[in-house]
Amino acid sequence: MMRYSRIIGTGGYLPDDIRTNDFISQTVDTSDSWIFERTGIKSRRIAADHETASSMAEVAARQALEMSECLADEIDLIIVATGTPDLTYPSTACLLQKRLGIKNCAAFDIQAACSGSIFGLSIADQYIKTGAAKKVLIVGTEICSRIVDWTDRTTCILFGDGAGAIVLEASDQAGILSTHIHSDGEFEDLLYCPNLYINTEQHAPYISMRGNEVFKVAVNTLGRIVDETLDANNMDRSEVDWLVPHQANIRIIAATAKKLKMSMDHVVVTLESQGNTSSASVLLAFNEAVRDGRIQRGQVVLLEAFGAGFTWGSALIKF
Ligand code: UT7
Repeated sequence: MMRYSRIIGTGGYLPDDIRTNDFISQTVDTSDSWIFERTGIKSRRIAADHETASSMAEVAARQALEMSECLADEIDLIIVATGTPDLTYPSTACLLQKRLGIKNCAAFDIQAACSGSIFGLSIADQYIKTGAAKKVLIVGTEICSRIVDWTDRTTCILFGDGAGAIVLEASDQAGILSTHIHSDGEFEDLLYCPNLYINTEQHAPYISMRGNEVFKVAVNTLGRIVDETLDANNMDRSEVDWLVPHQANIRIIAATAKKLKMSMDHVVVTLESQGNTSSASVLLAFNEAVRDGRIQRGQVVLLEAFGAGFTWGSALIKF
């Protein structure tokens, strides 16, 4: 019998503080209309001083565990995707494990920038398919506001904070149909964020991005991953009910929807009020559409992401 990874719970957390485009326009040379037209973003959430990637992850994870009706102790693997860990080590996954009171399971972080949660789903799916794990918690959590240069109008308008979570369980019912992950380290210069410990005049510890060049690669690459995913499943694009994309730019999302010949009504968009939450964005969007009843059991959902590295990937799911 085929063994699948079935989604049994989702969760999300967004900090209370809403930072609008108008607010940012007071400190850098930009405007609400420029930001909204070029990106689709109106506002983003900003974590409070006491919050961390692990504290936000805990709230999202508890929600996902509650929906899944499984006890924290049943989780046998925790994967956290983050580019903004609380500490260099222990991993944010270990800090989350402690917060959740889970004993005796493996917990580790992965770093694939904005594609982190897709990479996490892919790893978890392999563990479940091989029988090495039965219940896996995956969390994408980011405090982007702490690695953004708030004087740089080309980046500070884009990012937001938050956490998304998912619980997968081994099942004979589908499930994740396939995952596809890729990396190309050639593109470091187009999008990177130095570590604090190599901070010099030349290496400020902030996100640096050549947005327009990233944009073009993202559109082309995401178009290709749609084909790769459908081909691998012998599926026609008309069979996909929902697109849950990484939330970087509404124009990138619209290009992927067009590739799928999908109306924007079937695309989950959270970007307007959340901005780009990096590795949290896909799981936050998925959680929102599951909880508000848009995504229904039995439907086919395509998740995809693109980020620094470059990294990119997709997951095709029968929910
Ligand atoms: O999540 C990881 C992957 N990241 C992405 O996928 C992001 C991809 N890139 C983007 O989303 C877009 O490239 C941006 C939203 C970052 C920028 O939009 P764009 O249409 O590519 O603009 P641009 O960089 O070509 O800049 C156009 C103009 C420039 O002025 P000049 O040179 O034409 O005079 C910029 O200096 O807009 C200027 N500009 C701004 N103006 C007002 C750049 N940022 C701003 C701003 N407000 N915040």
